[in-house]
Amino acid sequence: MKVLLAGRFDAGEREAWLRHLGAAMPEAQWMGLAEARAQAHEIQAAVVANPPPGSLQGLPNLRLIQSLWAGVDRLLADATLPTRVPLARMVDPAMTAAMAETALWAVLSLHRGFFDYQQQQREGVWRELAQRRADEVRVLILGQGELGRAVASRLAAQAYAVAGWRRDGSELAPKLAQADIVVNLLPLTPATRGLLDAGFFATLPPGASVVNLARGAHVVDDDLLDALDRGRLHRAVLDVFHTEPLPAAHPFWRHPKVTMLPHAAALTDPRSAAAVAVANLRSARDGTAMAHLVDRGRQY
Ligand code: GLV
Repeated sequence: MKVLLAGRFDAGEREAWLRHLGAAMPEAQWMGLAEARAQAHEIQAAVVANPPPGSLQGLPNLRLIQSLWAGVDRLLADATLPTRVPLARMVDPAMTAAMAETALWAVLSLHRGFFDYQQQQREGVWRELAQRRADEVRVLILGQGELGRAVASRLAAQAYAVAGWRRDGSELAPKLAQADIVVNLLPLTPATRGLLDAGFFATLPPGASVVNLARGAHVVDDDLLDALDRGRLHRAVLDVFHTEPLPAAHPFWRHPKVTMLPHAAALTDPRSAAAVAVANLRSARDGTAMAHLVDRGRQY
């Protein structure tokens, strides 16, 4: 089986992927864009990590596009992406575990005031803050896919009062009104873009906090800044941004109520994800059912 491996990889990343994919599927031939173009008719699958737009055109015998990213919004934004070819999201157990850890860190730090203590230290302030129990903290998880469910169960195991919401489920507003911390793990689709806007923040109880681990475009940045500056929201923990890396002049960088990560809440781990990708490649080759396929209608 000839497989295209395409994407924007950092130094060493492509080699790591090739090593792990090659070990998991030694019978496959892995190739880059130029090589794949030269034998376009023989390419049966593509394994991609944010490839340049247009990369997947002109491969008439493609049977599977396997994303190495959990979120496929960027792939779907490429108008040249062939619509007849099945597209699979990455569901990597190591990434799921890492996401649960990051969510736990953010929620625990918000709940126990650790970000506030950090700020107090910078300001030379010695002051105890009220100490709530975990079961007194209501956490709403937006999104109930692999990641949302893993985060919910990790937080529930720590005694947090966890509720979940999915877009085609119940009403959002009553759930927001009952949330001290919101953790966003929704897929980015036209229906969820800009969901975290002024109306959303105004529906949360005063002093609530927001954790965005999904996509920057879920948030209306100016509305978030306004809610923080007016004291309507207590804090925001942000891993993802409209433009990444976040431009140096963006107010989030230096905002005292914003804690940032550089889109590093949960990285796909080639050691485990290669096996996940290869299982799907074998299914594509053998004509058996593939896992984690994207519904093009729903866009995730
Ligand atoms: C990361 O954001 C991913 O979609 O894998």
